[in-house]
Amino acid sequence: MNYGRIKSFNIEGSRVEIAFENAVGYITAVTEEIINVFSPFKPECNHSFAIEGDKSKHVHVIANMVGSYMVISTSKLAIYVYDNFIIKFMQSDGTLICRDYRGVREAQGVAVISQEAIEQARMEGHAMSDGIAHHRIEVLKCIEGDEYFYGLGDKYSFLNKKGYEFEMWNSDIPDPHYESMRSLYKSMPFVIVHREKVDYGIFFDNHHRTQFDLGKENTGYYSFSADDGNLDYYLISGDSIKDVVSGYTYLTGTTPLPQLWTLGYQQCRWSYENRDELISVAKNMRDNEIPCDVLYCDIDYMDNFKVFTWGEKQYPRHKEMIDLLARNGFKVVTIIDPGVKKEKGYQVYDEGIRNDFFVHNADGSVYENVVWPGDSVFPDFGRRAVRNWWADNLRVMTADGVAGIWNDMNEPASFRGEIPQDIVFCDEERRTTHGEMHNVYGSLMSKATYEGIKRQTGRRPFVITRACYSGAQKYTTGWTGDNQSHWSHLRYSIAQMCSLGLSGMAFIGSDVGGFGSNCTPELLCRWTQLGCFTPLFRNHAAKGTRHQEPWAFDRKTLEICRKYIRLRYRLIPYIYDCFHETESTGLPVFRPLVLEFQKDNNVLEINDQFMVGQWLMVAPVVDQGRVSRDVYLPKGCNWYDFHTGEKFPGGTRILREAPLDTCPIYVREGAVIPMWPVMNYVGEKKVDCLELVVYGGDGEYLHYQDNGVDFAYRDGEYNIYRFVSRRGCLSVEQIKSGYSERYERFKINLSGKLFNVKFTGRKLNAIR
Ligand code: GLC
Repeated sequence: MNYGRIKSFNIEGSRVEIAFENAVGYITAVTEEIINVFSPFKPECNHSFAIEGDKSKHVHVIANMVGSYMVISTSKLAIYVYDNFIIKFMQSDGTLICRDYRGVREAQGVAVISQEAIEQARMEGHAMSDGIAHHRIEVLKCIEGDEYFYGLGDKYSFLNKKGYEFEMWNSDIPDPHYESMRSLYKSMPFVIVHREKVDYGIFFDNHHRTQFDLGKENTGYYSFSADDGNLDYYLISGDSIKDVVSGYTYLTGTTPLPQLWTLGYQQCRWSYENRDELISVAKNMRDNEIPCDVLYCDIDYMDNFKVFTWGEKQYPRHKEMIDLLARNGFKVVTIIDPGVKKEKGYQVYDEGIRNDFFVHNADGSVYENVVWPGDSVFPDFGRRAVRNWWADNLRVMTADGVAGIWNDMNEPASFRGEIPQDIVFCDEERRTTHGEMHNVYGSLMSKATYEGIKRQTGRRPFVITRACYSGAQKYTTGWTGDNQSHWSHLRYSIAQMCSLGLSGMAFIGSDVGGFGSNCTPELLCRWTQLGCFTPLFRNHAAKGTRHQEPWAFDRKTLEICRKYIRLRYRLIPYIYDCFHETESTGLPVFRPLVLEFQKDNNVLEINDQFMVGQWLMVAPVVDQGRVSRDVYLPKGCNWYDFHTGEKFPGGTRILREAPLDTCPIYVREGAVIPMWPVMNYVGEKKVDCLELVVYGGDGEYLHYQDNGVDFAYRDGEYNIYRFVSRRGCLSVEQIKSGYSERYERFKINLSGKLFNVKFTGRKLNAIR
């Protein structure tokens, strides 16, 4: 688009409207550090699916013409706007944040090939590019040279995405995921740019198909683009990557506190084919003393894959089964896909047809494609009435005690080719297309599911989704879809989950053991060691693959899996504290080292170590046959080996022995880690004594406690304890008291010695 010269401007509150010769552009200061750049290309598409509610902080904005360009300022930023809507963002002290690229586009290193050669290569299945792809909406920004690019949600690639290109188009890809696939199930058009002196994020809030090129086309610039929707992006500035993530989640929302049991171990398979099999999995868990909270019913529990039904043949008296499992501490989560079987007499189909709830062909007939149930139709989740209806249907599950819902196939996936772009979907009352609603379909389904569960149970909904768009973290957790039992998939899942966390999805996990292909005992051990630290800890495998429950192999494998699943239960109070932090700051639980230690250049591209919250660092083994690994300990503090207590200085690289039963874990100096006793499931034992594992050095830790179930905490029903470790003394103090059940005692685990300390609610000092 050629905007032409700036003609005039007009300030209205914190928004500046700029009239160019050929179009209009808007610059809005949402906060002092978050700037929205907007220009209408599709004015009817006028709301965000990621940002809900008014985020505007009513910033005082000053705008002036300086010769031929404009300067718009907040107290923190100065935005220079030139002809053609070229923009430069500066900090108020004159530091450059980023500037639009004005040069010529040039695809570096692309050999000129004849059209004939391209066609030939395509015939063999090679994806060939014809050169530079131009898009209706495109923004090019200079690469200054010291950039690292993080975020972008669900990408199967390294942490730093410099030099690669991606697409945001929710895609169901059952083939093995490979390095730097352009798109996967979720679309989060948010990139974090880290430079030596500057951090910022770009959130391109366009839910149509979008592209990001982070210096692949040309090392001199990066770009984001789309052919539909609006030019609508946010520049999120901050003093650190943490600030940028918090800015992004300020806009799009944070992950709310989950129910405590959702942090327990979860066992899944496509499928536990019948009631007896599911019950025997439960029995095996308890017989083998493997803690476990959740068992899943994958698609085969349904009657002919009809959503909101139970197959009486496979799962007779399912409510009785759910109750039986509940008595033994298990919660049942069922899968629900969007595809509704086309079958007259099936209530969900009939109701949907009667109320006109399914998406349409252009001629008004109901659109059909094929998914698990065969010929199927697709709910039009863009409409509130459809979401409410879907939510009401969930009663079939919640009334019988199903504890959570797993939303799958909601890209939406379809077996008879992708749904054509022009199939009619709605955005509330506005008739639009699949092309526009595709990327938000999974988010809307998740939102409906969240609202249904919340209404029906009053509890914090546990929803898992495969597909979604930015902002879905308010309603759903996610898993990384159909990975495979490959070592490379174990390895890459770390950067993938870190990237999702940086993009707001704090409650994330990947299928432990790998979904497709066959797991080996060694791979299961190593993957369970990683899963122990991922927010969602679920073992899942595909039909036709070898079983991979912890006992599926040999005794040694069982023992190693048990050891790490038990460790997970010990760590639940710590992980829950991380979630408490997430709800207020948006910072992920599972985080790359760079989020904590961005001043240490050695961590900028560490893909195979990660932090859990601020205090624990994990360096899992991700290669077959390895029994030791190098570990980098970031600068700025000392580190303690979690297993041995040995102390190491930061800024060092060590070689850690890591036999199969050992996952290297390090604790940051000053930590006080709260731990529970091992239990078979969350809530099995009442915890009135909290163990505090205290490491050397000074530190302060806030511990959060509530009922772990409902929303009473939002009315103040929670406790907060402060543990301060200073010069060898520990003080324990309850600083907020709103929840009636509180710890009676604290067991202080200091230098390997255990002390029992009576907690009085007053300040306790000096226990050595
Ligand atoms: C999809 C899901 C997978 C599930 C299967 C059957 O492939 O990604 O997790 O088990 O469908 O429902």
